[in-house]
Amino acid sequence: MTNVAVIGTGYVGLVTGVVLSEIGHTVTCIDIDDCKVNKLKAGKSPIYEPGLDELMVKNIEANRLTFTTNHVDAFLHAEIVFIAVGTPQSESGAADLTYIKQAAKDIALHIVNDTIVVVKSTVPVGTNDLVQSIIEENIVANVKVEVVSNPEFLREGHAIHDTFHGDRIVIGAETEKSGSIIEQLFKPLSLPIVRTNRKSAEMIKYAANAFLAVKISYINEIANLCEAVGANVADVADGMGMDHRVGRAFLNAGLGYGGSCFPKDTEAIAYLAKENDAPLTIVEKAIQVNTKQRQLFLEKVMQHFNDNVVGRKIAILGLSFKPNTDDLREAPSLYLIEQLKNRGAEITVYDPIVREATTIGVTSTEFIQQCVDSTEAILLVTEWDEFKTVDWSEISQLVHSKVLFDGRNFLSNHKEIQTNWQYYGIGQV
Ligand code: UDX
Repeated sequence: MTNVAVIGTGYVGLVTGVVLSEIGHTVTCIDIDDCKVNKLKAGKSPIYEPGLDELMVKNIEANRLTFTTNHVDAFLHAEIVFIAVGTPQSESGAADLTYIKQAAKDIALHIVNDTIVVVKSTVPVGTNDLVQSIIEENIVANVKVEVVSNPEFLREGHAIHDTFHGDRIVIGAETEKSGSIIEQLFKPLSLPIVRTNRKSAEMIKYAANAFLAVKISYINEIANLCEAVGANVADVADGMGMDHRVGRAFLNAGLGYGGSCFPKDTEAIAYLAKENDAPLTIVEKAIQVNTKQRQLFLEKVMQHFNDNVVGRKIAILGLSFKPNTDDLREAPSLYLIEQLKNRGAEITVYDPIVREATTIGVTSTEFIQQCVDSTEAILLVTEWDEFKTVDWSEISQLVHSKVLFDGRNFLSNHKEIQTNWQYYGIGQV
């Protein structure tokens, strides 16, 4: 079993550390944030992710998983160091590599063994080469370092499941030896391995995410066309998806994609493409369609209220960008809340997990019943299971008007809703 260090205890870093310890490796996770590290040491995950806390506690107790703020301690026995720091979007759309460069410098200054450095963060093509050269330029000890690219394909809310049942592990290495060492590290997961060079591995991640984003924008435009001509997008997606070349996944029309990955990664690959004079027009358009999709939904709501929502009570169900996460990044709910508040509507919100969205100045109600009380319309923005199982006939008694805008087509087959409510879905008549 191998001694591993992981730099960054954000979403990707923490899940990687926990899973590597679960399959038997000895893992030290490093973060600069004292407070966070103390929480982690106590077995408390700073993010909401089903199953993560249990695995953390189990491996902390088995002494396979530790947390520290000290690079020297963490690198003392490390044979493999993962970089899993953030790569936020900069003003231009390009990925901001400040934290990656800092991690590379920290490695160069503090490692004491021959080390394989694995870049897990999503980075533009060529960044692994950059990390290699930063380390070589700054290295203190007389040791060898090789950088390997190993992009992450986890979905939030399914991270543990995805790690153990992923479709593939991509390993981009410049030498056979370093690639094989990383392959060995992941062997207990028994997943298909794709071996490439570093640049191809970096590209696979962006190209895959951008493709999925294109798929979503495509079905959203088809949905708008369905609405115009009287077809039903869910049936169309089912029919299309049965062709195995198309596939049914990521053909759910709705409010468009949000989250920490698709919006950022599509911008980053589009920027990279432009810079290299090989524009990705199709991705640029997918980004535009995604923005427009939220606006169209808002327009639908405005039309219902004859373009005036001043003093109208509107309930928003779901704040997170998708179910089973507390992540609000690029969530369509934020846009809708802001726009409707600006137009004078009285907004109440409910999310099963996100209780406070202080950045947008709203506090989520504790129960769905409080949220919908006396409202003139409900906007279902995130498809949490609870919104299907809740007693809609009880809700019918509480609202002022039975009007539902379903941004995820989540209740398009719900008997009570379809019989007694004025229902606005997406891409259906
Ligand atoms: C995604 C990728 O799936 C993952 O491989 C990558 O590592 C990180 O980005 P994530 O952002 O967690 O994961 O969420 P995902 O479940 O893929 O959904 C992304 C967005 O697309 C969500 O906003 C979701 O609501 C939206 N979506 C997804 C649709 O609108 N329609 C669909 O059919 C599928």
